[in-house]
Amino acid sequence: MLPLKKIVTSSVGKKYVMGLSGLGLVFFVIMHLLGNLALLRSNGNAFNEYADALGTLDWILRVLEVGLFGTILVHVFFALRLAVVNHQARPQRYTMARSKKGPSRWNLSSMHMVVTGVVLGAFLVLHVLQFQYGPGIAEGYVTEVKGKQMRDLYRLVNETFHNPYVVVIYVFTMLMLGFHLRHGFWSAFQSLGQAYPRVSKPLYAVGVALAILLSVGFLILPLWLYFDVPARLLAGGGVP
Ligand code: HEM
Repeated sequence: MLPLKKIVTSSVGKKYVMGLSGLGLVFFVIMHLLGNLALLRSNGNAFNEYADALGTLDWILRVLEVGLFGTILVHVFFALRLAVVNHQARPQRYTMARSKKGPSRWNLSSMHMVVTGVVLGAFLVLHVLQFQYGPGIAEGYVTEVKGKQMRDLYRLVNETFHNPYVVVIYVFTMLMLGFHLRHGFWSAFQSLGQAYPRVSKPLYAVGVALAILLSVGFLILPLWLYFDVPARLLAGGGVP
């Protein structure tokens, strides 16, 4: 049997792919948050300069984007396949959900990985359409960075986060991201066969800390812009 066929058909192979793709996506989400923190600066220059710096990567950025979307598709595809296989193996839910403690960490997050994953998937489609493929220079979203014209991404994000419905959707989705990561981080190591009893507990704790940091870090951004904190800081003469 071809190794690729084995990966797609065996449950160990599927789990391996899930673990690797999941950790890859965690790395992306950490980098994405670090870049987006530039939104906290009180004028939009910092964020647009960051977007401009990313743009200078040119073809490397295109390759990374293709890799990212490939990883997302693989993660979703294998997650759904595993969910179907698990469902077929045990079509009836247990009447009482109980954690076995130890290596099997069965809790609200693990039971709802599929639900939180679907919410994140739907969010991603809207999110990328809104920002990546949203209005640009042709629609008047134009600014100048280092003497050259570029898309005013800060204005787009700032205007988008002045819609209260969008802010509610973002805050809710970022909480879902937290729940997904709380179980997902530890589960990735488990799938890769690395969550040995000795490291299982600390790994789970790192996952919980990461989930809280990323969830809170992201959800602060729409609230920050909705409540016009940058403008208030500028008016008060604070923070550059
Ligand atoms: C408040 C939270 C967030 C903000 C303000 C934000 C902002 C942005 C912006 C402005 C872009 C477009 C970048 C560009 O066109 O150069 C973008 C792209 C993207 N975002 Fe977010 N994002 C947030 C949360 C998230 C989360 C939680 C995820 C993943 C779960 C995510 C995944 C993506 C992806 C996959 C892209 C496309 C990246 C690419 O192809 O280059 N974002 N985001």
